[in-house]
Amino acid sequence: MTLPTSTKDLKVGFVGFGTIANAIAVGLGIHDPSSSASNSEVSFSHLHVSQRSTAKSQALLAQFGASRVTVADSSDNRPILNSSDLIFLCVLPEQLEAVLSSLTFDPSRHTLVSLVSTSKLDGLIASSKLPPDRVHKMICLPSVATHDGTCLLVPPSPPLNSILEILGGCVQCDTEDIMTKLMIPACLMGPYYAILKNNRDWLVKMGVPVEDASYFVGRTYLGIAKDAEAKCRDPKGFDDLIEEQTPGGINEQSIKNLEKLGTFENYDKTMDGILERLQGKGPGDV
Ligand SMILES: NC(=O)c1ccc[n+]([C@@H]2O[C@H](COP(=O)([O-])OP(=O)(O)OC[C@H]3O[C@@H](n4cnc5c(N)ncnc54)[C@H](OP(=O)(O)O)[C@@H]3O)[C@@H](O)[C@H]2O)c1
Repeated sequence: MTLPTSTKDLKVGFVGFGTIANAIAVGLGIHDPSSSASNSEVSFSHLHVSQRSTAKSQALLAQFGASRVTVADSSDNRPILNSSDLIFLCVLPEQLEAVLSSLTFDPSRHTLVSLVSTSKLDGLIASSKLPPDRVHKMICLPSVATHDGTCLLVPPSPPLNSILEILGGCVQCDTEDIMTKLMIPACLMGPYYAILKNNRDWLVKMGVPVEDASYFVGRTYLGIAKDAEAKCRDPKGFDDLIEEQTPGGINEQSIKNLEKLGTFENYDKTMDGILERLQGKGPGDV
Protein backbone atom coordinates (compact mmCIF):
# COMPACT_ATOMS: atom_id res chain seq x y z
CA MET A 1 0.00 0.00 0.00
CA THR A 2 1.72 3.19 -1.08
CA LEU A 3 1.06 6.87 -1.27
CA PRO A 4 0.49 8.91 -3.34
CA THR A 5 -1.85 6.43 -5.08
CA SER A 6 -4.06 5.16 -2.25
CA THR A 7 -5.33 6.33 1.12
CA LYS A 8 -6.92 3.04 2.23
CA ASP A 9 -5.51 1.08 5.16
CA LEU A 10 -2.55 3.38 5.50
CA LYS A 11 0.29 2.58 7.84
CA VAL A 12 1.40 5.85 9.37
CA GLY A 13 4.70 6.42 11.19
CA PHE A 14 5.79 9.24 13.48
CA VAL A 15 9.46 10.07 13.99
CA GLY A 16 9.47 12.24 17.10
CA PHE A 17 6.35 12.06 19.21
CA GLY A 18 5.97 15.37 21.02
CA THR A 19 3.13 17.89 21.02
CA ILE A 20 2.40 18.16 17.32
CA ALA A 21 2.94 14.49 16.43
CA ASN A 22 0.63 13.44 19.23
CA ALA A 23 -2.06 15.88 18.06
CA ILE A 24 -1.90 14.53 14.48
CA ALA A 25 -1.92 10.90 15.65
CA VAL A 26 -4.94 11.44 17.91
CA GLY A 27 -6.74 13.26 15.07
CA LEU A 28 -6.08 10.38 12.68
CA GLY A 29 -6.85 7.78 15.35
CA ILE A 30 -10.31 9.13 16.16
CA HIS A 31 -11.26 9.21 12.46
CA ASP A 32 -13.95 6.63 11.79
CA PRO A 33 -14.47 6.08 8.05
CA SER A 34 -17.53 3.90 8.78
CA SER A 35 -19.36 6.65 10.67
CA SER A 36 -22.31 8.18 8.88
CA ALA A 37 -20.80 11.64 9.49
CA SER A 38 -17.71 10.72 7.48
CA ASN A 39 -17.61 11.21 3.74
CA SER A 40 -13.97 10.20 3.59
CA GLU A 41 -12.63 6.97 2.17
CA VAL A 42 -9.34 7.37 4.01
CA SER A 43 -8.58 4.69 6.57
CA PHE A 44 -5.60 3.96 8.79
CA SER A 45 -4.72 0.39 9.62
CA HIS A 46 -1.94 1.27 12.04
CA LEU A 47 -0.04 4.10 13.71
CA HIS A 48 3.65 3.41 14.44
CA VAL A 49 5.10 5.88 16.87
CA SER A 50 8.45 6.74 18.28
CA GLN A 51 9.13 5.68 21.85
CA ARG A 52 10.36 9.23 22.50
CA SER A 53 8.14 11.33 24.77
CA THR A 54 7.11 8.12 26.51
CA ALA A 55 4.09 9.58 28.32
CA LYS A 56 2.53 10.65 25.02
CA SER A 57 3.28 7.43 23.11
CA GLN A 58 1.96 5.29 25.98
CA ALA A 59 -1.19 7.42 26.22
CA LEU A 60 -1.81 6.90 22.48
CA LEU A 61 -1.37 3.15 22.92
CA ALA A 62 -3.80 3.20 25.85
CA GLN A 63 -6.36 5.24 23.86
CA PHE A 64 -6.39 3.15 20.66
CA GLY A 65 -4.99 -0.24 21.74
CA ALA A 66 -2.24 -2.49 20.40
CA SER A 67 -4.30 -3.50 17.37
CA ARG A 68 -3.98 0.05 16.03
CA VAL A 69 -0.86 1.47 17.68
CA THR A 70 2.71 0.19 17.96
CA VAL A 71 5.24 2.04 20.06
CA ALA A 72 8.82 1.39 18.93
CA ASP A 73 10.62 -0.56 21.63
CA SER A 74 13.85 1.41 21.33
CA SER A 75 14.78 4.94 20.33
CA ASP A 76 15.84 3.53 16.92
CA ASN A 77 13.57 5.08 14.27
CA ARG A 78 14.26 2.42 11.61
CA PRO A 79 11.48 0.00 12.70
CA ILE A 80 9.00 2.86 12.28
CA LEU A 81 10.08 3.33 8.67
CA ASN A 82 10.04 -0.41 8.03
CA SER A 83 6.39 -0.59 9.14
CA SER A 84 4.97 2.59 7.59
CA ASP A 85 4.06 4.13 4.24
CA LEU A 86 3.47 7.70 5.35
CA ILE A 87 6.05 9.22 7.71
CA PHE A 88 5.41 12.37 9.72
CA LEU A 89 8.72 13.91 10.78
CA CYS A 90 8.07 15.79 14.02
CA VAL A 91 11.40 16.54 15.69
CA LEU A 92 12.76 19.93 16.75
CA PRO A 93 14.72 21.96 14.15
CA GLU A 94 18.05 21.30 15.90
CA GLN A 95 17.41 17.52 15.76
CA LEU A 96 16.48 17.45 12.04
CA GLU A 97 19.89 16.85 10.43
CA ALA A 98 20.96 14.05 12.78
CA VAL A 99 17.59 12.28 12.57
CA LEU A 100 17.34 12.49 8.77
CA SER A 101 20.89 11.28 8.22
CA SER A 102 20.16 8.19 10.35
CA LEU A 103 17.19 7.14 8.20
CA THR A 104 17.02 5.24 4.90
CA PHE A 105 13.80 5.86 3.02
CA ASP A 106 12.36 3.54 0.38
CA PRO A 107 11.55 5.65 -2.73
CA SER A 108 8.98 3.10 -3.89
CA ARG A 109 7.12 3.11 -0.59
CA HIS A 110 7.61 6.11 1.65
CA THR A 111 6.04 9.54 1.60
CA LEU A 112 7.70 12.02 3.97
CA VAL A 113 5.80 14.90 5.57
CA SER A 114 7.95 17.26 7.62
CA LEU A 115 6.40 19.34 10.38
CA VAL A 116 9.77 20.85 11.25
CA SER A 117 9.21 24.59 11.02
CA THR A 118 12.63 25.44 9.62
CA SER A 119 12.86 22.57 7.10
CA LYS A 120 12.94 23.37 3.39
CA LEU A 121 11.74 21.08 0.60
CA ASP A 122 15.12 21.10 -1.22
CA GLY A 123 16.97 20.04 1.91
CA LEU A 124 14.40 17.36 2.77
CA ILE A 125 14.59 15.91 -0.76
CA ALA A 126 18.41 15.90 -0.69
CA SER A 127 18.62 14.28 2.77
CA SER A 128 15.85 11.72 2.31
CA LYS A 129 16.78 10.84 -1.31
CA LEU A 130 13.06 10.48 -2.00
CA PRO A 131 11.51 11.66 -5.27
CA PRO A 132 10.22 15.29 -4.99
CA ASP A 133 6.57 14.19 -5.27
CA ARG A 134 7.01 12.10 -2.11
CA VAL A 135 8.40 14.91 0.06
CA HIS A 136 6.14 17.49 1.68
CA LYS A 137 6.14 20.21 4.28
CA MET A 138 3.11 20.68 6.49
CA ILE A 139 2.06 23.26 9.05
CA CYS A 140 -0.76 22.81 11.55
CA LEU A 141 -1.71 23.59 15.11
CA PRO A 142 -2.47 21.06 17.89
CA SER A 143 -6.22 21.60 17.33
CA VAL A 144 -5.93 18.92 14.59
CA ALA A 145 -6.40 16.46 17.49
CA THR A 146 -10.08 17.41 17.62
CA HIS A 147 -10.39 17.91 13.83
CA ASP A 148 -10.44 21.67 14.30
CA GLY A 149 -7.11 22.43 12.65
CA THR A 150 -6.52 23.72 9.16
CA CYS A 151 -3.34 22.31 7.66
CA LEU A 152 -1.05 23.92 5.09
CA LEU A 153 0.64 21.49 2.69
CA VAL A 154 3.33 22.02 0.05
CA PRO A 155 3.57 20.77 -2.69
CA PRO A 156 -0.06 19.81 -3.41
CA SER A 157 -1.03 16.13 -3.24
CA PRO A 158 -4.68 15.03 -3.63
CA PRO A 159 -4.22 11.83 -1.55
CA LEU A 160 -2.47 13.70 1.27
CA ASN A 161 -5.06 16.44 1.04
CA SER A 162 -7.85 13.94 1.67
CA ILE A 163 -5.97 12.69 4.74
CA LEU A 164 -5.41 16.20 6.09
CA GLU A 165 -9.03 17.19 5.42
CA ILE A 166 -9.87 14.69 8.18
CA LEU A 167 -7.91 16.82 10.64
CA GLY A 168 -10.17 19.81 9.99
CA GLY A 169 -9.17 21.09 6.56
CA CYS A 170 -6.21 21.65 4.28
CA VAL A 171 -4.92 24.33 1.96
CA GLN A 172 -2.57 22.92 -0.67
CA CYS A 173 0.17 25.42 -1.53
CA ASP A 174 1.96 25.50 -4.89
CA THR A 175 5.13 26.96 -3.36
CA GLU A 176 6.82 27.37 0.02
CA ASP A 177 6.53 31.14 -0.51
CA ILE A 178 2.71 30.89 -0.67
CA MET A 179 2.77 28.68 2.44
CA THR A 180 4.78 31.32 4.32
CA LYS A 181 2.26 34.01 3.36
CA LEU A 182 -0.64 31.82 4.52
CA MET A 183 0.97 31.57 7.96
CA ILE A 184 0.34 35.28 8.56
CA PRO A 185 -3.30 35.09 9.78
CA ALA A 186 -2.17 32.59 12.42
CA CYS A 187 0.28 35.26 13.62
CA LEU A 188 -2.71 37.57 14.18
CA MET A 189 -4.09 35.38 16.96
CA GLY A 190 -2.48 37.68 19.55
CA PRO A 191 -4.07 40.83 18.07
CA TYR A 192 -7.44 39.04 17.97
CA TYR A 193 -7.25 38.38 21.70
CA ALA A 194 -6.08 41.97 22.19
CA ILE A 195 -9.28 43.20 20.44
CA LEU A 196 -11.40 41.06 22.81
CA LYS A 197 -9.48 42.47 25.79
CA ASN A 198 -9.87 46.01 24.46
CA ASN A 199 -13.68 45.53 24.09
CA ARG A 200 -13.90 44.06 27.60
CA ASP A 201 -11.83 46.84 29.17
CA TRP A 202 -13.88 49.54 27.42
CA LEU A 203 -17.13 47.98 28.69
CA VAL A 204 -15.72 47.82 32.23
CA LYS A 205 -14.69 51.48 31.98
CA MET A 206 -18.33 52.20 31.03
CA GLY A 207 -19.52 50.48 34.23
CA VAL A 208 -20.32 46.94 32.99
CA PRO A 209 -19.38 44.21 35.56
CA VAL A 210 -16.14 42.55 34.37
CA GLU A 211 -17.58 38.98 34.41
CA ASP A 212 -20.51 40.02 32.18
CA ALA A 213 -18.22 42.00 29.88
CA SER A 214 -15.77 39.11 29.46
CA TYR A 215 -18.51 36.49 28.95
CA PHE A 216 -20.52 38.60 26.51
CA VAL A 217 -17.51 39.64 24.40
CA GLY A 218 -16.22 36.05 24.11
CA ARG A 219 -19.62 34.60 23.16
CA THR A 220 -20.50 37.41 20.76
CA TYR A 221 -17.25 37.03 18.79
CA LEU A 222 -17.77 33.24 18.74
CA GLY A 223 -21.12 33.70 16.99
CA ILE A 224 -19.57 36.18 14.56
CA ALA A 225 -16.68 33.76 13.83
CA LYS A 226 -19.13 30.90 13.21
CA ASP A 227 -21.00 32.94 10.59
CA ALA A 228 -17.69 33.79 8.91
CA GLU A 229 -16.58 30.13 8.98
CA ALA A 230 -19.85 29.03 7.37
CA LYS A 231 -19.07 31.32 4.42
CA CYS A 232 -15.30 30.84 4.17
CA ARG A 233 -15.33 28.35 1.26
CA ASP A 234 -16.95 31.05 -0.88
CA PRO A 235 -14.22 33.49 -2.05
CA LYS A 236 -16.77 36.34 -1.77
CA GLY A 237 -18.19 35.17 1.57
CA PHE A 238 -16.63 37.90 3.72
CA ASP A 239 -17.68 40.61 1.21
CA ASP A 240 -21.25 39.28 1.43
CA LEU A 241 -21.22 39.44 5.23
CA ILE A 242 -20.07 43.08 5.09
CA GLU A 243 -22.70 43.80 2.41
CA GLU A 244 -25.37 42.33 4.71
CA GLN A 245 -24.76 45.04 7.32
CA THR A 246 -27.75 47.38 7.50
CA PRO A 247 -27.28 50.36 5.14
CA GLY A 248 -26.81 53.45 7.28
CA GLY A 249 -26.64 51.20 10.35
CA ILE A 250 -24.11 51.18 13.18
CA ASN A 251 -22.01 48.27 11.88
CA GLU A 252 -21.62 49.93 8.48
CA GLN A 253 -20.64 53.17 10.24
CA SER A 254 -18.11 51.31 12.43
CA ILE A 255 -16.37 49.93 9.32
CA LYS A 256 -16.23 53.45 7.79
CA ASN A 257 -14.89 54.95 11.03
CA LEU A 258 -12.15 52.31 11.27
CA GLU A 259 -11.27 52.87 7.59
CA LYS A 260 -11.05 56.63 8.21
CA LEU A 261 -8.77 55.99 11.20
CA GLY A 262 -6.43 53.85 9.03
CA THR A 263 -7.11 50.66 11.00
CA PHE A 264 -7.07 48.32 7.99
CA GLU A 265 -4.02 50.05 6.48
CA ASN A 266 -2.31 49.47 9.81
CA TYR A 267 -3.31 45.81 9.63
CA ASP A 268 -1.68 45.64 6.18
CA LYS A 269 1.50 47.21 7.58
CA THR A 270 1.47 44.73 10.47
CA MET A 271 1.10 41.82 8.02
CA ASP A 272 3.98 43.22 5.91
CA GLY A 273 6.07 43.23 9.11
CA ILE A 274 5.17 39.62 9.92
CA LEU A 275 6.09 38.56 6.36
CA GLU A 276 9.41 40.40 6.57
CA ARG A 277 10.22 38.49 9.75
CA LEU A 278 9.02 35.09 8.48
CA GLN A 279 11.16 35.54 5.36
CA GLY A 280 14.16 36.51 7.49
CA LYS A 281 14.39 39.87 5.71
CA GLY A 282 14.12 42.10 8.76
CA PRO A 283 12.89 42.48 12.34
CA GLY A 284 9.23 42.96 11.35
CA ASP A 285 8.72 46.23 13.25
CA VAL A 286 6.55 48.92 11.66
N1 LIG B 1 3.84 22.39 18.86
C1 LIG B 1 3.23 22.94 17.82
O1 LIG B 1 2.12 23.51 17.94
C2 LIG B 1 3.84 22.87 16.45
C3 LIG B 1 3.07 23.30 15.38
C4 LIG B 1 3.59 23.20 14.11
C5 LIG B 1 4.88 22.72 13.91
N2 LIG B 1 5.63 22.35 14.97
C6 LIG B 1 6.99 21.83 14.68
O2 LIG B 1 7.00 20.44 14.93
C7 LIG B 1 8.27 20.06 15.43
C8 LIG B 1 8.04 19.36 16.77
O3 LIG B 1 7.48 20.32 17.66
P1 LIG B 1 6.81 19.86 19.03
O4 LIG B 1 6.19 21.07 19.60
O5 LIG B 1 5.98 18.66 18.80
O6 LIG B 1 8.14 19.52 19.85
P2 LIG B 1 8.32 18.49 21.04
O7 LIG B 1 7.06 18.34 21.80
O8 LIG B 1 9.57 18.90 21.77
O9 LIG B 1 8.61 17.13 20.25
C9 LIG B 1 9.86 16.79 19.69
C10 LIG B 1 9.92 15.29 19.68
O10 LIG B 1 11.12 14.85 19.01
C11 LIG B 1 11.63 13.76 19.78
N3 LIG B 1 13.00 13.49 19.41
C12 LIG B 1 14.11 14.18 19.71
N4 LIG B 1 15.19 13.59 19.14
C13 LIG B 1 14.73 12.49 18.49
C14 LIG B 1 15.32 11.44 17.75
N5 LIG B 1 16.64 11.39 17.53
N6 LIG B 1 14.53 10.48 17.22
C15 LIG B 1 13.20 10.52 17.41
N7 LIG B 1 12.58 11.46 18.13
C16 LIG B 1 13.34 12.43 18.66
C17 LIG B 1 11.42 14.21 21.20
O11 LIG B 1 11.55 13.12 22.11
P3 LIG B 1 11.94 13.37 23.65
O12 LIG B 1 10.77 14.08 24.28
O13 LIG B 1 12.11 11.99 24.18
O14 LIG B 1 13.19 14.20 23.62
C18 LIG B 1 9.96 14.66 21.08
O15 LIG B 1 9.11 13.55 21.07
C19 LIG B 1 9.11 21.31 15.56
O16 LIG B 1 10.01 21.38 14.48
C20 LIG B 1 8.10 22.44 15.52
O17 LIG B 1 8.62 23.57 14.88
C21 LIG B 1 5.14 22.38 16.21
